[in-house]
Amino acid sequence: MEQVDVIVLGAGAAGMFAAIEAGRRGRRVFVVDHAKAAGEKIRISGGGRCNFTNLGIALDRFISRNPRFALSALKRFTQWDFIARMDAAGIGWHEKTLGQLFCDGSAKQVVDLLLGDIARAGVGLWLGCTVGAITRDGQGFVVETARGAVRAESVIVATGGKSIPKMGASGFGYQVAEQFGLAVVETRPGLVPLTFAAQELDWMVPLAGVAVQGRVSVGKTGFDEAVLFTHRGLSGPAVLQASSYWREGEEIAVNLAPGRDVAAELSEAKRGQGKLALRTVLGRSLPEKLARHIETSLGITAPMAELGRGDLERVAQALRDWRLRPVGSEGYRTAEVTLGGVDTDGLDGRTMMARGVPGLFFVGEVVDVTGWLGGYNFQWAWSSGWAAGQVA
Ligand code: FDA
Repeated sequence: MEQVDVIVLGAGAAGMFAAIEAGRRGRRVFVVDHAKAAGEKIRISGGGRCNFTNLGIALDRFISRNPRFALSALKRFTQWDFIARMDAAGIGWHEKTLGQLFCDGSAKQVVDLLLGDIARAGVGLWLGCTVGAITRDGQGFVVETARGAVRAESVIVATGGKSIPKMGASGFGYQVAEQFGLAVVETRPGLVPLTFAAQELDWMVPLAGVAVQGRVSVGKTGFDEAVLFTHRGLSGPAVLQASSYWREGEEIAVNLAPGRDVAAELSEAKRGQGKLALRTVLGRSLPEKLARHIETSLGITAPMAELGRGDLERVAQALRDWRLRPVGSEGYRTAEVTLGGVDTDGLDGRTMMARGVPGLFFVGEVVDVTGWLGGYNFQWAWSSGWAAGQVA
């Protein structure tokens, strides 16, 4: 039987990082993944440029039943630490917006960086290898794999969430947690487009492809970013962010004119440019297609000068406070992340080790810590993987 110090399940961002750290400490480490290639989500992330971290890492950018859990790992291996590794490898990067850091070249550079570090740390990598039962005895763990059983002192579970099953996502990590008596917080898709009933969809579909800057809120939590109309409903960063806070049955509020006094702007246009059509006035700040669509759906045909106060108020209201009740989301098929996961109550925040099961670790997305859109999820993968790699 193969004998190692540490077996890491999952060759994604968190698993590779944990393996590198443990390998650098001189531990004999194996990473096993059923996918044919390592770091597949890194490769496709950020539109192929990997939004690998965010300058503004802060606890309020993470969703968890215990919001303080992530603090220790995030403070001990920070965004600056990961940036230093990118710099040392000579990988160029830039800030796109809102502190989001992307590769200048391609996401593959990040995968290559990790694979290079894995090789230098002497870590073994078994790809295309399924993982079976995990048992524990007095000396550690035995993990059954398609290439035979492996005995290990420590097991690091880094199998990610349920998002994008066709890329290898599985609920495996949650099963392992439950097998060893850890609780799992109910999982649901996050950072996901929202879908709507026929009535709203009829309004949205003609606008498919149109993007507009807006504010999307769920309760008191709102995001000022782009909103994108699609054939299935709404997407774009503002909607994806809000989706992580949305629960079935709840309403979302869309403001297509955040920070502006639309009623005052329309009154001024009525006074000074009365001959103009509403769509022309709206088109100054909105895409032309959307401006025209709003005009038509409100049944307004007269020029600005002929519109009454009630009409202007109706237009302002439609722009500022559009209330919608999504019927669902596009689900794990397109969700960037999985909310919920291994309950942090059962884990030590400094090491990621299961409190009642010495030698068993959970890192990355499988844990009930989910970041906002913008590089937060990879930073959690690096930080939590690093933390486990120091002790496993
Ligand atoms: P990850 O899912 O990366 O890795 C898990 C690994 O475990 C996979 O290789 C899988 O094959 C393997 N595995 C699963 N089950 C197994 C089993 N039963 N046996 C063996 N192996 C198994 N985040 C961010 O910060 N910036 C970004 O730009 C993006 N962009 C982005 C785009 C898209 C399209 C998606 C889907 C997601 C993102 N994300 C992101 C989120 C980010 O990709 C995600 O949070 C991290 O990849 C999570 O890293 P993990 O290592 O925890 O899991």
